[in-house]
Amino acid sequence: METLKRTKVKELLKTEPGKQVQAKGWVRTKRGNKQVKFIALNDGSTINNIQIVANTGDFDDSIIKGITTGASICVTGKLVPSIGSGQAVEILAEELTVYGECNPMTYPLQKKDTSLEYLRTVAHMRLRTNTFGAVLRIRNAMAFAIHKYFNEKGFIYLHTPLITESDAEGAGDMFQVTTLDLNHIPMHNGKPDFSKDFFGKKTCLTVSGQLEGELGATAVGEIYTFGPTFRAENSNTPRHLAEFWMIEPEMAFYDIEDDMELAEDFIKSLVRYALENCMDDIKFLNEKYDGSLIERLESVTETGFQRVTYTEGIRILEESKEKFEFPVHWGIDLQSEHERYLVEKHFGKPVILTDFPKEIKAFYMKQNEDGKTVRGMDVLFPKIGEIIGGSERESSLEKLETRIDELGMSRKNLEWYIDTRRFGTVPHSGFGLGFERLLLFVTGMSNIRDVIPFPRTPRNAEF
Ligand code: 4AD
Ligand code: MG
Repeated sequence: METLKRTKVKELLKTEPGKQVQAKGWVRTKRGNKQVKFIALNDGSTINNIQIVANTGDFDDSIIKGITTGASICVTGKLVPSIGSGQAVEILAEELTVYGECNPMTYPLQKKDTSLEYLRTVAHMRLRTNTFGAVLRIRNAMAFAIHKYFNEKGFIYLHTPLITESDAEGAGDMFQVTTLDLNHIPMHNGKPDFSKDFFGKKTCLTVSGQLEGELGATAVGEIYTFGPTFRAENSNTPRHLAEFWMIEPEMAFYDIEDDMELAEDFIKSLVRYALENCMDDIKFLNEKYDGSLIERLESVTETGFQRVTYTEGIRILEESKEKFEFPVHWGIDLQSEHERYLVEKHFGKPVILTDFPKEIKAFYMKQNEDGKTVRGMDVLFPKIGEIIGGSERESSLEKLETRIDELGMSRKNLEWYIDTRRFGTVPHSGFGLGFERLLLFVTGMSNIRDVIPFPRTPRNAEF
């Protein structure tokens, strides 16, 4: 006899009744009476559960008792039409095996307090909730959609290093990587002697793959990176992680206009993919957390993003009657409250802000004729603020070197990069999309810790 193979719940719910089937998963709920039990089973393949109907007389008492919320089981039986479960089919149990019991007295999911904050303290349970099931499936779908998007456009997925010597963003918020014994640091002229360190130099975890990405783009044309990124900024906000994922496309022969066009098309196409492929999960999140999620997602795919210069943005903020915590004047780095005012209150759609004061942006951005601003662009989204940061790159060797000197950065450490401007330099552009910021938008969750399975934030790296 052929042994019956397990079918995932997602498949079962789409299967015609009549067949003998097997399902495995974790019990969500058990209800019923002395004669019959209704078990809601979930295996993570979908937000939806499959209902199992078990006549208690057919099974040992101990088995029925062992089936409690959180227990893992295997069920074999006939797939039959369902009248009451809200699904088309259910399983009439013939065999039941309990893999792992889950003591109702100690299993934390029994507790009333299952707030997102509380869940962050119970790693094993957090990922098993409906909420994280939905978030993890959407996260997976978005990662796939990103690779699909660039693959179809002929971009090359470039793997850039996580360990690096260079502070690409010049913000100085890097995690150091060392094998030196911190209790006995070798010293030279009163300073740590990094020549004794693993790489013979001071090294850190990368804050961006862009500089290496530029080498890729100026070799094969169009590349993108998609990997972990590390920032030791001590900002405990709902939008910052110490370890996050970033997607950084970099394109030879693109000017800032091409760059903005790609950014807008990219993000719209990702949101469209989510609407087309993740609707069960999005509906769940819409109902549970954010009643205007679906509406917001649809609206973004349909509206053109508003393009406006930083200078104009500052004028709008200055002329607004809004009380901001951080005062506004030309030259400031915009805070999330300013970005959200422009997007949510003033324009009522996503905004692409361009041409920033050079003092608040990184050394590599292309300088405008005015000598004051650079050709950067930030894409600002409702509820989030900055979701993308990018620019056209300075392609002139002379201007780039002058800027590096002005900022007191080390030219020596950047020679490998500067060489791209020395030999066959081209106009080129790129941007970085924060993967978790995208997920905040697509899931409607309000804290960035809740769109990554194992968040890393200041004073928090346990799991
Ligand atoms: O604006 P940023 O700092 O730009 C860069 O790193 C450029 N090298 C990108 C490029 O042009 N290739 O970061 C890009 C995006 C931000 O817009 C934001 O979405 C996200 O990365 N981001 C963070 N996300 C989570 N936690 C943090 N601490 C983040 N810092 C930046
Ligand atoms: Mg930025």
